[in-house]
Amino acid sequence: MFKSYSFSKISYFTIFLLLVASNFVESLFNKENAEYIDDEESHDDPNDNDYLAKNIDYYVPPSYPAPLTGRLQLIPEWADAIAKARDIVSVLSITEKVNLTTGIGYGSGVCQANLGTIEKLDISSICFQNGAHGVSNTDFATNFPSTLAAGSTFNKDLVYQLGRAVARESKTKGIDVLMGPGLNVGYHAAGGHNTENFGSDPYLIGKLASAFIKASNYEGVLSCPKGLIGFEQEHFKHSNEWENGKYKHLKQPLDVQITDKVMHEIYLWPFADAVRANAGCFACSYNKINGTYACENSYLINHLLKEELGFQGFVTSEIGAMRSGVNSILSGADVNIPGDIFGDYASGKSLWGPLLTRAIYNETIPQYRLNDMVTRLLSAFIVNNVKIPLSNDFEELPNFSSWSQFTYDKEYPFQSYGSIKQVNKHIDAREKFTEKVALQTAREAIVLLKHTKSALPISVDDGYNRMLIAGIGSVTSPEGVDVEDALTGDGAVYQSWGPNSVSAFNAISPADVIYKKAVERDLLVDIVTNEYDIDNIERSAELANVAIVFAFANSGDSGSEIDGNYGDRKNYTLWANNVEMIKSVADRCAKTIVVINSPGPVDLEDFIDHKNIVGVLWSAPLGQYYAQAISDIIFGDYQPSGNLPFTISKHAENYVDIIDRVPLNGKPVDDLNRLLDYRYFDEMNIVPRYPFGHGLTYTKFKLFDLTIVEKRQPSVDLSKPDPYLDPYFFEHTSVEDPSEALFPFSEFKPVPGHIYPYLYNTKVYSQPFYNYPTGYKPDIDCDFENDPTCDAPPRAGGTLGGNPDLFEVLYKIKASVENIGGYEGYYTAQLYVEFPRGRHAPTTHVRQLRGIDKVFVKKGYTKKIKFELTTRDLSYWDVEDQTWVIYPGIYKIYIGSSSRKFDLLGEIDISSSKN
Ligand SMILES: *[C@@H]1O[C@H](CO)[C@@H](O)[C@H](O)[C@H]1NC(C)=O
Ligand SMILES: *[C@@H]1O[C@H](CO)[C@@H](O)[C@H](O)[C@H]1NC(C)=O
Ligand SMILES: *[C@@H]1O[C@H](CO)[C@@H](O)[C@H](O)[C@H]1NC(C)=O
Ligand SMILES: *[C@@H]1O[C@H](CO)[C@@H](O)[C@H](O)[C@H]1NC(C)=O
Ligand SMILES: *[C@@H]1O[C@H](CO)[C@@H](O)[C@H](O)[C@H]1NC(C)=O
Repeated sequence: MFKSYSFSKISYFTIFLLLVASNFVESLFNKENAEYIDDEESHDDPNDNDYLAKNIDYYVPPSYPAPLTGRLQLIPEWADAIAKARDIVSVLSITEKVNLTTGIGYGSGVCQANLGTIEKLDISSICFQNGAHGVSNTDFATNFPSTLAAGSTFNKDLVYQLGRAVARESKTKGIDVLMGPGLNVGYHAAGGHNTENFGSDPYLIGKLASAFIKASNYEGVLSCPKGLIGFEQEHFKHSNEWENGKYKHLKQPLDVQITDKVMHEIYLWPFADAVRANAGCFACSYNKINGTYACENSYLINHLLKEELGFQGFVTSEIGAMRSGVNSILSGADVNIPGDIFGDYASGKSLWGPLLTRAIYNETIPQYRLNDMVTRLLSAFIVNNVKIPLSNDFEELPNFSSWSQFTYDKEYPFQSYGSIKQVNKHIDAREKFTEKVALQTAREAIVLLKHTKSALPISVDDGYNRMLIAGIGSVTSPEGVDVEDALTGDGAVYQSWGPNSVSAFNAISPADVIYKKAVERDLLVDIVTNEYDIDNIERSAELANVAIVFAFANSGDSGSEIDGNYGDRKNYTLWANNVEMIKSVADRCAKTIVVINSPGPVDLEDFIDHKNIVGVLWSAPLGQYYAQAISDIIFGDYQPSGNLPFTISKHAENYVDIIDRVPLNGKPVDDLNRLLDYRYFDEMNIVPRYPFGHGLTYTKFKLFDLTIVEKRQPSVDLSKPDPYLDPYFFEHTSVEDPSEALFPFSEFKPVPGHIYPYLYNTKVYSQPFYNYPTGYKPDIDCDFENDPTCDAPPRAGGTLGGNPDLFEVLYKIKASVENIGGYEGYYTAQLYVEFPRGRHAPTTHVRQLRGIDKVFVKKGYTKKIKFELTTRDLSYWDVEDQTWVIYPGIYKIYIGSSSRKFDLLGEIDISSSKN
């Protein structure tokens, strides 16, 4: 049954429009009150609790002014860095400051996005480059496993090494800001960019992302986690990509709706961890939230991120996500990359740059805001010891071009402008260390889903003598893989497609490596890649006594499409002729092993119970070491130890489908409030095919000796955060003479398409008053009469990541794990907590992941597993009081090897008397 409900009016702001003045173009921002009528059907869920958005008016509570950095106590490293940043900012002119906020335009610099320079301080163009699985758009860089593969290792230490490795290669290439990792949650199982995120649990994402961020910053490359917030599918990411055919009446990108409770308990959770891990940067996403673009959502950036989570660094747009000037800036956005007006690339037009300078000269944007934007940018570098690039440090500047792979090309290949020069020096960024980490991550990311008859690892002692390797997925696409976007629909998948892909594939076919290992073991090997030739598949399967069958699915960026998969997958089935091939082989070969490589859950139901399918291995895209890693696991050189970072369902209807239809009003809406992944299956009592966290090993473990020690008494209320330090104000710069900010034509000539910070003319006013967004307050000073709490962060805030109490350890939990099987191996210990549930208790999830500890145990040995539970781990978000609360009662502790398989049970009694 579907219920539809309507949402009341929301006023929202749109940006317009271009006004041509001489050669230059200038834009105005007009507030437009539009009626927001929603005619989409929404999810009707039998699961009746507060997580479901019932008749909720989604709107953005106005949150102004943008908080200043440097007002929190208890953060000495930041205080120091902020003081140093202020020293720099205080000597900069308005146009110099603007140069550090605005990208110089798509293709105007060598990286994917580049900021302006400050000549007098020798500050060079800060370089932003995608992504978390390797340096994109250049050569001689490792193609690392995807972030989703990193997620399925469940291994914080390894992800730390991965962060180091990716950052080292980025550093060698001269990159300053690494755009990644993604912190989205895979709400839609078929989401095209799910491989850029760690999986579908906020705790897992938070832990692994923290490790990655710390490691990247440690190596001197600022990690900029992305997807702030609710960026959960590719469809309708940019409205202009969807102007054809059935999408032609699309009026705006996807608008997602998130309730306050779900925001805190799911979507914002990993961001809090990232802030705590000293992230210096976040990238706001392409979508709207509650009717307003992410980069222009004052509640999200000003309130949630900068006040509540105490974030001191800067917010940049994801490349191309900034859709307004003044209003985004007032809402807390600090940097706009690549700088251009969206969709008007290489025109030199920007809603920031010259218009930001203008908005300072006409005093529409207060000067403290611009000073704060630049202070945030610089202190993010300083606090993390990441070097601000200097123009005389030739050794450290990027010497590649994201816009050309040739050695010699025009200086601006994207613009097709400039004289021919050397644009690529082809520096080899790969190192022994980075390659080793890429391989180890690939191995640990492989998940053994099904294993019977002790069929694995493959050993000649088991009587195997003739092997079939089958499927197009066992080899690199015979058509070749598109070198720019990694598009492939008929061959092994090494990474998802899109502009974030690593150009240098270095891909080796799994069939080649398996063949080599098999032959070393005196096996006879047949390889049949044409999976449509079922006759041949069947004949070969009859001869083999072991078969390895390769299956796959792929997804990627909405900019390209394969077979109707517009970034997001259009279904959950395996691609090519995978399913028919698997069944044909399994019907004939008693030991059939299926290897699946996919960007998310796939439908296994047609074959999973087949008695001859004795092994099923799954992984997310594994990068260039896919072949090596999968063969190592199959032949037992390494043990499988990956765990599913999402649930695989028996029925497709248990996933939340992509929003792929445009409603009549042209404004698609996505309700992101359904319970996420295993939380849904648990609440609805649905038996999944494979639960979140599932992953078998070759060996067996026994758990015992559970101990739970209270370290600190939980208290119901968080303590009141320390008051804010007084705001710091820079000296006011006179704006009386706009002519000082005009283009200095006598000094240099503008490069076409380049965005500069200079005014177009001295007419800086276009209207008597700026029509500010509803609820806008410019005053930074605290107005006690109207807001008695304004001298301190909100109750849930107080330091990096939130209230300091949230991160106090309340309980230490330990247990022993003994390897009682025949192989060495990893035990991926997972701790789930069940909060008190009942009629009077607040709504909570059935069980939530609150601990991971992956340990390697030799055959016959015993190791300790350890967890810590903090206040935050045991709290729910109280919407009314706007704080985290521990509800008194019994907390059940489950320790096991998946979200459904528990080896030890315990209890924590947090009775009301203790409060
Ligand atoms: C979105 O709207 C909901 C419901 O009114 C509100 O609770 C939430 O705080 C809003 N979030 C943002 C980011 O605007
Ligand atoms: C701003 O950056 C550009 C390069 O993008 C540079 O040419 C210009 O001199 C800079 N302007 C100022 C005022 O520093
Ligand atoms: C290119 O950049 C790398 C990394 O910054 C540096 O080590 C190398 O010296 C540079 N090479 C040249 C030729 O400038
Ligand atoms: C699902 O999508 C794949 C890839 O586009 C396609 O090969 C397959 O036929 C589709 N499956 C169904 C059942 O439509
Ligand atoms: C000031 O300049 C900005 C940027 O062009 C513009 O949006 C705004 O309307 C101007 N304010 C006034 C009062 O004219």
